[in-house]
Amino acid sequence: MRIHNFEEYQKVYQYSIEHPEDFWNEIAQHFHWRKKWDKVLEWNFTEPRVKWFINGKLNITENCLDIPAQKHPDKIAFYFEPNDPNDLSYSITYKELLEKVCQLSNALKEIGVQKGDRVAIYMPMIPEAVIAMLACARIGAIHSVVFGGFSAQSLADRINDAECKVLITADGGKRGNKIVHLKQTADEALQQTHSIEHVLVLKHIGIEINIQQPRDIWWDDIVSKQSTYCEPEIMDSEDMLFILYTSGSTGKPKGVVHTTGGYMVYTAYTFLNVFQYDPEDIYWCTADVGWITGHSYIVYGPLINGATSVIFEGIPTYPDAGRFWAIVDKYKVTHFYTAPTAIRSLEAFGTDIIKQYSLESLKVLGSVGEPINEEAWEWYHKNIGKGKCPIVDTWWQTETGGILISPLAHITPLKPSYATLPLPGIQPIIVDEKGNELKGNNVEGNLCIKFPWPSIIRTTYGNHERCRQTYFSTYPNLYFTGDGCKRDADGYYRITGRVDDVINVSGHRIGTAEVEDAINQHPDIVESAMVGYPHPIKGQGIYAYVVPVRPIDDVKKLHKEINGLITKIIGPIAKADVIQVVSGLPKTRSGKIMRRILRKIAEGETSNLGDTTTLLDPSIVEEIKQGKFKSQM
Ligand code: WT7
Repeated sequence: MRIHNFEEYQKVYQYSIEHPEDFWNEIAQHFHWRKKWDKVLEWNFTEPRVKWFINGKLNITENCLDIPAQKHPDKIAFYFEPNDPNDLSYSITYKELLEKVCQLSNALKEIGVQKGDRVAIYMPMIPEAVIAMLACARIGAIHSVVFGGFSAQSLADRINDAECKVLITADGGKRGNKIVHLKQTADEALQQTHSIEHVLVLKHIGIEINIQQPRDIWWDDIVSKQSTYCEPEIMDSEDMLFILYTSGSTGKPKGVVHTTGGYMVYTAYTFLNVFQYDPEDIYWCTADVGWITGHSYIVYGPLINGATSVIFEGIPTYPDAGRFWAIVDKYKVTHFYTAPTAIRSLEAFGTDIIKQYSLESLKVLGSVGEPINEEAWEWYHKNIGKGKCPIVDTWWQTETGGILISPLAHITPLKPSYATLPLPGIQPIIVDEKGNELKGNNVEGNLCIKFPWPSIIRTTYGNHERCRQTYFSTYPNLYFTGDGCKRDADGYYRITGRVDDVINVSGHRIGTAEVEDAINQHPDIVESAMVGYPHPIKGQGIYAYVVPVRPIDDVKKLHKEINGLITKIIGPIAKADVIQVVSGLPKTRSGKIMRRILRKIAEGETSNLGDTTTLLDPSIVEEIKQGKFKSQM
């Protein structure tokens, strides 16, 4: 499975696109199946309908747990590093992890969870979050992890959309010197849901919470009495493994669906090859399991490869900005995978703090979630990697399930700010607005993929048409990523950012429609338009133009209220950095908001606004340009 040098990569890549089915057929042999597939692939991008490893039977947790636990029961699967460095850190071996997962699986069965049921997971970044995901997979239940920073409303929407039967949560979590009141928020969410029969509550930080019997059950009470073995449910390759909600340009977040066989093969293959993981290595991905990075490269990919990983509950700046580096030294981390926003925010603290740590153990650095600017790339390479660690700039999406474009560590020649080359099996294509392929090198346009890979999105939960419409209708027979991209003279890919109404704030994907809907719930606001603008740390910041019912005299106060509302409806990650009060929005005669103009003004550009003649009221642009009623936080 493993690629060893660049010539081999080129050969394997060529073979993988000329004979994709043979290629994936060979890769898939490396895993444990209860029954092999009859056929590798069936697909069309029109419905769309994609099936991999047809009629294959397996349980992914046998690959994550039973197989590694047989090979090396005492190998550490996870080191847990708590938020507070003085709290207890501990490790879990593969054998222990298998047992803990089995116990929770049995507990879920006891409370009535069956194959195909949906289970919501709303947890801090602790090993039990991973155990909860795997316990679902063990019994064929579909997990839907909701990031612990999301609001009650967001949690309720996700529970309702998937009609989850059980919610797994904790009393609370710690992030820096803040406490996250998970159970309290969950209680609020559950007032708006009808499908939840039971809530499993882990006592994690020991805060006082409300327990509503018989609905709520303490994790320890039910889990500790269970058997440490649970027979895995045998799943079909195309049975759903999980749902993960993500934002798009329109409407509410959609539930991206991934299935079992293809997702397993792809995440395991890419983990091994991108990171070039060796059995003795210590891998640390700083993401939260609430995002796809956590699913694919904290849970499934590393475990299937029998890796040892670090799980960290806290934040990079607590108790000080050296925390990441202290953890790297403490566990002798060899592979460190984080987001550009974290790098930029730590860069702001200077290099003196880094000099207190050795960072000698590091071999590979990774970047994910947003474009990494050249300056941050160089800083990361020099100060963290000491010039000797390659940076794998991994481009992918919730919908792709795994990394599609990335260097292979120590193999692919690097170029700062480039995700470099497609992984084996990935066939990128760049098209212009009309969908014409831009062939050859030195081209820039919209990034699409023309052939399926094993972990491609299968559907959006409960609404297949939305999946077709969002990803497969813009350009016929292509998967459209929503990203802009450049292919340079060497054929290297550089992702330039979203070309749709999605913005990327600190590596988190935020939909304009969602934020606008939240803002519009403010009683003094008639309508609003949100755009992204370049932000030195977050990558993109949120800039919202709001039209009030009556003149506003205190814009700062309004800004605070709007952010309170956004926090309540979505979560603090979607708070607006800038609020500008305007008397109207630039709309075309057909009523469409011209975001292009708003984006330019937000970027500070006031001269080259392009064609404004199609506007219903061009004078509004003059007023907006002056930016008189603005608040920045
Ligand atoms: C969007 C997907 C992939 C896991 C985390 C985010 C942007 C992601 C890169 C990168 C440039 C990147 C894209 C993509 N993105 N990685 N290495 N370089 N842009 O997953 O929330 O589904 O967001 O993140 O714009 O479309 P996500």
